[in-house]
Amino acid sequence: MRVAVFSSKPYDENHLIQANKHNHHFSFFESHLDETTVALSQGFDAVCCFVNDTLNADVIKHLEDNGIKLIAMRCAGFNNVDLEAAQKANITVTRVPEYSPYAVAEHAVALILALNRNIHRAYNRVRENNYALDGLMGFDLHGKTIGVIGTGKIGLAFIKIMRGFGCTVNCYDPYPNPEITPVMANYVGLEKIWTDSDIVSLHCPLMDATNHMINQETLAQMKDGVTLINTSRGGLIDTGAVISALKSGKIGNLGLDVYEEEAELFFENNSNKILYDDQLARLLSFLNVIVTGHQAFFTAEALTAIAQVTLNNIDGFTEGNFDTIFQVNAE
Ligand code: NAI
Repeated sequence: MRVAVFSSKPYDENHLIQANKHNHHFSFFESHLDETTVALSQGFDAVCCFVNDTLNADVIKHLEDNGIKLIAMRCAGFNNVDLEAAQKANITVTRVPEYSPYAVAEHAVALILALNRNIHRAYNRVRENNYALDGLMGFDLHGKTIGVIGTGKIGLAFIKIMRGFGCTVNCYDPYPNPEITPVMANYVGLEKIWTDSDIVSLHCPLMDATNHMINQETLAQMKDGVTLINTSRGGLIDTGAVISALKSGKIGNLGLDVYEEEAELFFENNSNKILYDDQLARLLSFLNVIVTGHQAFFTAEALTAIAQVTLNNIDGFTEGNFDTIFQVNAE
């Protein structure tokens, strides 16, 4: 297969080349796939894409015209792919459903601990020879109530860690996970998640039902000073409502690894450019907010697994072994 890899970084290149046991021909493009770059797919059989590539109906039509037969996503989420358009174009879509749930769950916990104990502020203070503790007081995690939305692979890994801290866990998922026993967590309605949680952590996919699930109304039901963590997808949160809740003190701590408008910013060094996104600039002005640039997945173990499963999907597609690949279909 001739595979055009979009949004490619040196670490993607290294891991994909190492996992390429069947001599597929890879070309690596740093640019995102979108309407302006889709012409680069000419002469290839497959495209390999990531979270901020645009695979809407227009782009997919171009891919079809260019003879692309496979969209191999090297991530779990596929909310950026128009699956119906892909099906119509007879293009197979694959993804990597699981690579390291621990990577993302542990990053969510890292955000909680950093925010709660003000590690980011302490780090800066100590470097300036300032050892004053005022403003750094945290709270014990032990005994706190955690609300987990989405109890798939990452939600489950997160719940296990939080139980280790001695937290009570309430969770919500329209499709409860049989691995979660009442000893670990209680399935409850969303309302109880909002009203009872000291910390809310999002681990569900972005889709119509979950778009802006954190909004003015749901925030109003939460405890004053709630900690909100989002390592899933930016669109789960209405950023304007969250900024208002930070200003009023309703949100006490906010940890984001994803941001609704991240596509133009994340994964790039923009340090010599002006930040034009006023909402992100406002978020970054709060001392009780930590934003990381979609790095929750970024561990050595996860990158190795992503490359292996992506290659397995490409191999299986090439050989017609559709039962060995992780295919995504339109509903
Ligand atoms: P998963 O598919 O194992 O679990 C997702 C869970 O969400 C499922 O149990 C599903 O039933 C549930 N769900 C579906 N609709 C829901 C709703 N309306 N409300 C609540 N829950 C609902 O997925 P996994 O691997 O646990 O990943 C979760 C999310 O994490 C992904 O969708 C992706 O957006 C995000 N992610 C973020 C990464 C990062 O680097 N920040 C890396 C990998 C995934």
